[in-house]
Amino acid sequence: MKTYHLDFLSIVSLHINYKRGMIKPANDQSIGGFRLSNLQDEITRRRTFAIISHPDAGKTTLTEKFLLYGGAISLAGSVKGKKTAKHAVSDWMEIEKQRGISVTSSVMQFQYQNYCINILDTPGHQDFSEDTYRTLMAADSAVMVIDASKGVENQTRKLFKVCVMRHIPIFTFINKMDREAKNPFDLMEEIEQELGIQTYPINWPIGSGKEFQGVYDRNLKEMIAFEANNGQHQVKATALDLQDETLKDVIGTEHYQTLLEDIELLDGAGSEFSQQRVSDGTLSPVFFGSALTNFGVEPFLRDFLTMTTSPLPRSADIGIIDPATNPFSGFIFKIQANMNKAHRDRIAFMRICSGQFEKGMEVFHIQGNKKMKLLQPQQMMAQDREVIDEAYAGDIIGVFDPGIFSIGDTLCTANHKMIYEGIPTFAPEHFARVSQKDTLKRKQFVKGTSQIAQEGAIQIFQELDSGMEEVIVGVVGVLQFEVLEHRLKHEYHVDIRMEHLPYQYIRWIENHDIDPKKLNLTSDTKRIQDLKGRYLLLFTNSWGVQWALDKNPGLELSEFGKA
Ligand code: G4P
Repeated sequence: MKTYHLDFLSIVSLHINYKRGMIKPANDQSIGGFRLSNLQDEITRRRTFAIISHPDAGKTTLTEKFLLYGGAISLAGSVKGKKTAKHAVSDWMEIEKQRGISVTSSVMQFQYQNYCINILDTPGHQDFSEDTYRTLMAADSAVMVIDASKGVENQTRKLFKVCVMRHIPIFTFINKMDREAKNPFDLMEEIEQELGIQTYPINWPIGSGKEFQGVYDRNLKEMIAFEANNGQHQVKATALDLQDETLKDVIGTEHYQTLLEDIELLDGAGSEFSQQRVSDGTLSPVFFGSALTNFGVEPFLRDFLTMTTSPLPRSADIGIIDPATNPFSGFIFKIQANMNKAHRDRIAFMRICSGQFEKGMEVFHIQGNKKMKLLQPQQMMAQDREVIDEAYAGDIIGVFDPGIFSIGDTLCTANHKMIYEGIPTFAPEHFARVSQKDTLKRKQFVKGTSQIAQEGAIQIFQELDSGMEEVIVGVVGVLQFEVLEHRLKHEYHVDIRMEHLPYQYIRWIENHDIDPKKLNLTSDTKRIQDLKGRYLLLFTNSWGVQWALDKNPGLELSEFGKA
């Protein structure tokens, strides 16, 4: 028997990971007065990932345990206690507090060993918004938390689609092994079938629920025994070699026999490990554990950090932007108003894509065509905000927004201008016709709906040839309707009327030379326009979409609004 905690060997050596995005600079190279090697080191040690799951799979619990190991909190339970008076630290808005759910995504940074980790938390509620999708655009990899008794659930599927679109590495943590779980082979198959990605279990569970004995580490070829604990503190794990005679006594002959058979099957018939395939998002390393009892969290964190990537190059109009060899640049992926009611402020979240950001530095806002100093640059630790002096590619910072930024905007230096590929507009799935009750409040109504749309919480459309007294609002999750109503009432003092519409599908018309009024469409298809003047069609069913394509040769429809 042996005890370990920090000297855990990872399945892949560090240098493989560092390969991506790493261009060794000459020692005397410098950018903006900073020696490139320091910059390079800072960027290389960064890991920026999103954590995704279906609600209740254990995302918050796992995040909390990461923070515990990173020393950012000393006692688990301080991040959230849903059923007590406390709320998740990321619950900013009042509506979230009222309903005890997390609507907005939050960002947290902490240090672990030599890594600087940025976690992008995605809202867990099933009525999540487009913010969730956008958050994934800012991440370099994703951790997918799956409930071992439930397998792949609806929300996971949706989020997963966006990860696949971006070809980012996806790591799977199968949680709640301390409860009765599905057969691990069935879980692997489900992930592969449902999500269309191959899996490679890094460790393998021995039993589950009351019978949960621990996991077998396929790389170290040893078993880590499960010891139930309340999960509040960091734990040391006990490891047993597969050949160790005592192992059979510890886990029982039956479990031992099953383990031997499982391992043989995995080694013989399972996928081969390939770091390249992990990096391009076609092979997901899988870990089993129990976030609540803190089992398997630290080994997961260590392996994940070595296998995932440091900040990746991003594509802009001037070409691919390497994070370390370019001066400061970044893009806005999220705007949030009134995070703090006392201050009535609006914060733009920026993902830094290259170089270093320094407090007080002058940056160039491409879409506004203006030089500016970013006010109050802050780093987030959920609700706590800290004004920062510097940040590097990979980091997410929040900057005060006096109403000038839009989702997807690029910020860079004046002498190295570029435009990042924008963030696509994701198709809303629910629609309502919205108007103000009091016609005298028209100005506030237009201001409120436009600002909330600019933040990206909702999308607004107009019927062709109609004014702004009445708009069609599209949202990704129905909860956004409530958020809209709440915010218009409390922030803009406007009461609204809302009529839910039966449309389910929205498509942007890609052809520029088509007059939408001349299209041959089913009677229940609606022609609308977005704020950028682009034409769209709303359909009540997929049959209508097909009809439009069949009856109008050459018509091109798209599910995403190009940025
Ligand atoms: P989410 O953010 O993905 O929505 O999930 P969250 O972490 O809030 O976890 C959902 C529920 O599952 C919580 O219980 C949590 O304690 C429990 N849970 C998380 N990880 C594990 C695990 O490894 N094993 C077991 N047995 N349970 C786990 P709850 O009763 O809904 O909330 P709470 O009162 O504990 O906050």
